[in-house]
Amino acid sequence: MPESFEEKVRDAIANPKNMGEMSDADAVGTVGSPDCGDMVRMWLKFTEKDGKKVIDRASFQSFGCQTAIAVASLATEMLAGKTVDEARQLGASDLSEPLGPLPPMKIHCGQMVEGALREALLADTGEPPAPVSASPVEAPAATLLDSLSSSGVPAGKKLRVIKLD
Ligand code: FES
Repeated sequence: MPESFEEKVRDAIANPKNMGEMSDADAVGTVGSPDCGDMVRMWLKFTEKDGKKVIDRASFQSFGCQTAIAVASLATEMLAGKTVDEARQLGASDLSEPLGPLPPMKIHCGQMVEGALREALLADTGEPPAPVSASPVEAPAATLLDSLSSSGVPAGKKLRVIKLD
């Protein structure tokens, strides 16, 4: 049983859950940190349960540190079955709760995951979901790499992703 924060993070990222894009998602939210350069994207799929809209499943992609990946993985597990209102109440400390209190240097990693969740919930207008690829102009890119590649990378240049510790 992992004890320390580092052990819990290592444990969570050894087998991250719900990692990868969700092609039939109803909502997607992406946030990036100008400070560390990391990004997190979260997809949500809703369903109806007892007359309420609940999160059926959630998935994520992260170009981020290990803590962000660990929190995102735990958060996607935590979100399944939550109503939209319940999900709106969750802050970074709730989403990262299984890891214990985040060290001060890592608090923003949890906030990135919270931000991606909030963006996804904001994107959910209650309208019937449009396919992610409905409009190449307005729809979000399918992956973070696509998103990065289509924004600010000059034609003919390649994007190099450097993993941060
Ligand atoms: Fe930037 Fe963790 S998300 S260091």
